[in-house]
Amino acid sequence: MNLPFQNDDKALREGVDRVMNARKKAGLEGLVGGLEAVEINVQPANLRVAAEEFLGCTGHQFHMAYEHEHAHLCVLRQEGSADFLFTSRKDACSPFAAFNMAPKSKNLPETRLETFIFKCPDVERFAALQMERGNCFLTAEPLRTDKYVYIQTPPSRYTGNSIGFIQWLGAEGDWFRRGCGELNWKLDKPDKPHLANVHELDHAATRVRAEERDRAILEFMEWTNYSFDFAVYVEALNSITNVARLSADDFAMVFTSGISPFTTLEESGPTEKYIYNYNTRVHHLAFSTVNIEETYAAFKRDGMEFLVELVGGPDEGLHQTFTKPFPTTLLVNEYIQRYGGFDGFFTKSNVTMLTAATDNQ
Ligand SMILES: [Fe+2]
Repeated sequence: MNLPFQNDDKALREGVDRVMNARKKAGLEGLVGGLEAVEINVQPANLRVAAEEFLGCTGHQFHMAYEHEHAHLCVLRQEGSADFLFTSRKDACSPFAAFNMAPKSKNLPETRLETFIFKCPDVERFAALQMERGNCFLTAEPLRTDKYVYIQTPPSRYTGNSIGFIQWLGAEGDWFRRGCGELNWKLDKPDKPHLANVHELDHAATRVRAEERDRAILEFMEWTNYSFDFAVYVEALNSITNVARLSADDFAMVFTSGISPFTTLEESGPTEKYIYNYNTRVHHLAFSTVNIEETYAAFKRDGMEFLVELVGGPDEGLHQTFTKPFPTTLLVNEYIQRYGGFDGFFTKSNVTMLTAATDNQ
């Protein structure tokens, strides 16, 4: 009889070495940099309200809204953070559609954090090198515009996320290419001082199936210059929080999976259950926050609902909390403050409490 599948890090570490070597050999090292933007697609009727909600729960500001042949877009921006591009598609067909058809997400069939866009100094060369390795993109060749060169992967079969690569030709962050038309939108930033405490995007966490954890992480490493760093196992919840990093200062990509696969809704832990309900997708976006206790209290006064109180504290080195998911994006916000001298990225006790808090989503 076969033993049931269980993750451990031995095979993953071997895979990491293999991918790092292959990446170097292919000349891909240094060709993908940090996160430039996150693209969140929503139902067309929700575009404006999704952007407004985001303005009300982060430090990002309205930058501009525009349209092109394929979408309406709204750009939200904060110095030092990745841009957020809220989009709604004009095209009837979406390569992400199949990933959204889960019991609790199918009522919002176009809603998903779809793409993480990374900086690339030479998109054409990068695309050619990846294609030589047999890796395909969503388009046969990069899109060359007056402002940037861009290409993106198809949605990953393991995460449903796409990875985009952008080479700026002029000013960085100038998304408004030839063929775009500005929309007459002016979204107001709520006048709430605590929003200034919410800084850059620190990490995003994608939930993946236990049996696909290694492949999801290795695939992400094949496309970028990230590397798997460490994993926190929470046996009691059948959950692993896996962290991939570019450097200690960059946005981190987190993958959360079961240790063993989904069984039944009654028996499975929160991570595998979430995938049953929502399919693989980004579960939360974590924002680096200062004065987190005051900020959390202000959000509560403001009516924001949370899945859990603040967990951890200055003595443990970090404080974190999760909001309830936003109805227009299905995404949870995490607010995180690390205190001086804390050299770990996460603590097992916080990871445990945060994971447990997602059980009722
Ligand atoms: Fe997190």
